[in-house]
Amino acid sequence: MKGLVYHGPGQRAWEAVPDRRIDQPTDAIVRIDTSTICGTDLHILKGDVPAVKPGTILGHEAVGTVVEVGAAVTTIKPGDRVLVSCITSCGRCRFCKEGHPGQCTGGGGWIFGHLIDGLQAEFARVPFADTSVYKVPDALSDEQVLFLADILPTAFEVGVLNGGVTPGDSLAVVGVGPIGLATIMTARLYSPAQIIAIDLANARLERALEFGADVAINSGTTDAVAEVMKLTGGLGVDVAVEAVGVPQTFELCTELIRPAGRVANIGVHGHPATLHLEKLWIRDVTVTTGLVDAVTTATLLRLIEGGRLDPSPFATHRFRLDETEQAYDVFADAATTQALKVVLTAPSVEAPPRAREAAVAAG
Ligand SMILES: NC(=O)c1ccc[n+]([C@@H]2O[C@H](COP(=O)([O-])OP(=O)(O)OC[C@H]3O[C@@H](n4cnc5c(N)ncnc54)[C@H](O)[C@@H]3O)[C@@H](O)[C@H]2O)c1
Ligand SMILES: [Zn+2]
Ligand SMILES: [Zn+2]
Repeated sequence: MKGLVYHGPGQRAWEAVPDRRIDQPTDAIVRIDTSTICGTDLHILKGDVPAVKPGTILGHEAVGTVVEVGAAVTTIKPGDRVLVSCITSCGRCRFCKEGHPGQCTGGGGWIFGHLIDGLQAEFARVPFADTSVYKVPDALSDEQVLFLADILPTAFEVGVLNGGVTPGDSLAVVGVGPIGLATIMTARLYSPAQIIAIDLANARLERALEFGADVAINSGTTDAVAEVMKLTGGLGVDVAVEAVGVPQTFELCTELIRPAGRVANIGVHGHPATLHLEKLWIRDVTVTTGLVDAVTTATLLRLIEGGRLDPSPFATHRFRLDETEQAYDVFADAATTQALKVVLTAPSVEAPPRAREAAVAAG
């Protein structure tokens, strides 16, 4: 089989690797039908995530078909189509039991393309299969559910739910890449009164308006704090979501919120940011952080099934799985290519019959 192998900073190749085998009775082997690339994969390729050892297959988002299960797996069987999430749950440790599998101490958490071989490959070994994968309803195509593997639950849990968005809120989303856009998309489930998108790139701000933002502010050319105060009667927003991961945008979020407002940080930070307690202590603010737990995946899946949520606009570019290297180039050069998410599809399943039938049925 083949997979996209990390060979140290700046080096990767689609190449032959040993076939996947069941290692633990709780494992499944999944044929990858559809996969995608995450901004975090680009961080890994820059060498920012030293836990990823050279020789590791990258990727932590996929939809595939079960081809083999270990002796202890009882809820899925060969032939089942499953969503493989960025978060694996052992189902037994304290954190998994308390609804925080992102912090799993039993061998799960974020492991694919990080601590074990990942999902940008023809096949993958999926640990703790019973407690970690989701069966995909027949009526939904791979592409309709693929982004549930990471960006949708991340934005929903770490942005919208941690930020406590409620109906009528004003919301600022700082950084409208895939994560910020997914925050806008899932925040709308809670009917905020006003969504303000803030970014440096006009192309991204245009996408934010398409995804449902009411106002777009380019913080490179406009005083974002002054604009937000104008839009909120001088008070600031109820919730500011940080979806960039640099000190300036975190600090900006703390300036955008009203007294007793909330900052929900999603961004992965590589440098220290200043928490201005000398200004904030008196304002009753709440700051939350988080790694995704992916515990809302089933809820989001039902919303897609019910036609209440449609993540398909994230798919801007499509490649065959064996073109993953070209897909990385397009994804990494988003400023030129306007890529949001690239979809990698195994040639054998380019047009799954179920998706074709659904398309015909939908007219
Ligand atoms: N907490 C988690 O579990 C989790 C999971 C996945 C991703 N993330 C993180 O979320 C963040 C966003 O991910 P993404 O894939 O959307 O990233 P991205 O790089 O595609 O998008 C970031 C956006 O921020 C904008 N931006 C950059 N600097 C800015 C500035 N100074 N002011 C305003 N806007 C600015 C960029 O133009 C871009 O549109 C990243 O830090 C990523 O690592 C966190
Ligand atoms: Zn990711
Ligand atoms: Zn666990």
